[in-house]
Amino acid sequence: TKHVLGIKYLTAADVELILDTALQFKEVINRPIKKVPSLRDTTVANLFFENSTRTRISFELAEKRLSADTVNFSAASSSVKKGETLLDTVNNILAMKVDMVVMRHPAPGAHHFLASKIDASIVNAGDGTHEHPTQALLDAYSMRDALGGDLRGKKICIFGDITHSRVALSNVFCLQKLGAKVRVCGPPTLIPKHMRSLGVEVSYNVDESLAWCDVANVLRIQLERQDTKFIPSLREYNRHFGITRERVDRLDKPVVIMHPGPINRGVEIDTAVADSEHSIILEQVENGVAVRMAVLYLLAARRKEG
Ligand code: CP
Repeated sequence: TKHVLGIKYLTAADVELILDTALQFKEVINRPIKKVPSLRDTTVANLFFENSTRTRISFELAEKRLSADTVNFSAASSSVKKGETLLDTVNNILAMKVDMVVMRHPAPGAHHFLASKIDASIVNAGDGTHEHPTQALLDAYSMRDALGGDLRGKKICIFGDITHSRVALSNVFCLQKLGAKVRVCGPPTLIPKHMRSLGVEVSYNVDESLAWCDVANVLRIQLERQDTKFIPSLREYNRHFGITRERVDRLDKPVVIMHPGPINRGVEIDTAVADSEHSIILEQVENGVAVRMAVLYLLAARRKEG
């Protein structure tokens, strides 16, 4: 494929290839000289129509480690504010000879729309509540690392606000392709009805789900994407659905703790759990650079093959 629009469109072999290639780039970025020349003939535009800390910096570092030329665009400080359309914005940037576009946009259809209109390769860095494919890939990479390399039969539970999370859907697709057993757990109001039809177990019981899983991937409540009058108080949410120190202390086996960030400390996860010895939250961020290097490198290779 010329684009990475979502995990849904990748095969299991594509996912395995990306993760195996990322292993090699992880070794590269731990060397004293962290750069390789692979993309020195490639220009990448990072277009962010929504806020980001991790994804944006991670992609920019991945591009620089591959020796690509990079340009960064933030909608908040651009002519989008004067009414310029998405297509006009992108076509103007592409006129400056850009080969690849990494884009975050609040509209789920934005990346597919662009893919039908432009020649550059597009990487989805998050589209509304739909998909965040490179987050799922770095999550899967980090889970493989923590669990000994193979996710087949491993039990992964995604906790929290599933309805408003693009990370949840991309994780489900990615983990199923790698043979893991996937469960989601949260309040019934924050779990969409179609989850069971995707072959995902659904639970509303946090204690039972923590006892079931090998990995707990904890998601934040996305207050910016919902009408706050439907949300319980955050203190109540923590009491009933939070990954608290008390809940984790009651377990009779270690559970790997993950979170894509940004964390709402004391809401979906307690600080003592997020910063515990079983947490790999910062390893996820570290692995993200190698995974994004792999995605960009493989896409550039496909472009050259035509
Ligand atoms: N995990 C993630 O996408 O974080 P940012 O929103 O900061 O990029």
